[in-house]
Amino acid sequence: TQPNFVRIVEVGPRDGLQNEKATIPVQTKTELIERLGKAGLRIIEAGSFVSPKWVPQMTGTSEVLLGVTQVPSVRYPVLIPNMRGLDILLKLLHNSPRVPPLTNEIAIFTAASESFCKANTNKSIEESLNTLAKVTESALSAGLLVRGYISVVDTCPFEGNVDPAKVKDIARYLRQMGCYEISLGDTVGTAVPLTVNRLLDEVTKSIDISQLAGHFHDTFGMGVANVITAVNAGVRVIDSSASVAGLGGCPYSPGATGNVATEDVNHALISAGYETGIDTELLANTGAWISQQLNRSNESRAGRAYLAK
Ligand code: HMG
Ligand code: MG
Repeated sequence: TQPNFVRIVEVGPRDGLQNEKATIPVQTKTELIERLGKAGLRIIEAGSFVSPKWVPQMTGTSEVLLGVTQVPSVRYPVLIPNMRGLDILLKLLHNSPRVPPLTNEIAIFTAASESFCKANTNKSIEESLNTLAKVTESALSAGLLVRGYISVVDTCPFEGNVDPAKVKDIARYLRQMGCYEISLGDTVGTAVPLTVNRLLDEVTKSIDISQLAGHFHDTFGMGVANVITAVNAGVRVIDSSASVAGLGGCPYSPGATGNVATEDVNHALISAGYETGIDTELLANTGAWISQQLNRSNESRAGRAYLAK
């Protein structure tokens, strides 16, 4: 890929919607994914196969994958915590000709602090990595790509500051396991450019920057600044959610808000001369549309400004 291309991984249908209280119809989720694809997003995290007791909002992910009109140039990864989740996906892929090998990717997740890992997955970090090693091995042998998330890379809601060296060690382990990319999750949204640089300096001691992605939550409004910091340091993959900054977030990170908005990230990047492949107008319309569907104000400042023009 060209050095000035930044791949935006749209996580709104999963990270953006997972924390919503009201039940969101499958039809709304499939339309969101289809609109994002038309707007030029090429990797759209479509949902998760997690315990419905833990995250009820993601219950309809099978129906979402079956219902969405998939486009060959788009990948639709799903988040998976354990073998149970992988089995559900593999059965779906096997049984349904309507899910072509387009969902050819999963995302797995662990955390850089013990308390958060326990709160989010009911496992210690070590137990979580043992589980994920099995999931990854099976997924790879089924021909799927595996992306790895590390949560709470800046601070933990229960333990405070997180040591970048811990993130580095887990990232190295996930790479050795077979993850093609490691997404560094600032779950709580406390990172600032200074700590992003410090983290990247440490993690790149063991992993090439081309295999890292930045995943910033916008709790303190630092999302775009952190994105630009990461991109200046050489990161070329950024996770974000269309319009839903301020919504969503992780149910196990009290007080944290949603991801940095895709519209804001796209605006900052293209203004700085990067390419994203995204149609600004279709993206802004999508952000406004999903906000309306959720009965919320549009939380993307760039999206609102664009539509007001
Ligand atoms: P547990 O309670 O220890 O597991 O949860 P369990 O094996 O005892 O299962 C409990 C029940 O869930 C059982 O049902 C299982 O069958 C069922 P019962 O027998 O009691 O009726 N179950 C499942 N059902 C469907 N799909 C599955 C599945 N697994 C078990 N895959 C578990 C352990 C990992 C399952 C649970 O903790 C869990 O689901 N955690 C996921 C939490 C989550 O989704 N968090 C949000 C996503 S991560 C995130 O947002 C961070 C990220 O964005 C990056 C960042 O910002 O940091 C990625
Ligand atoms: Mg997240």
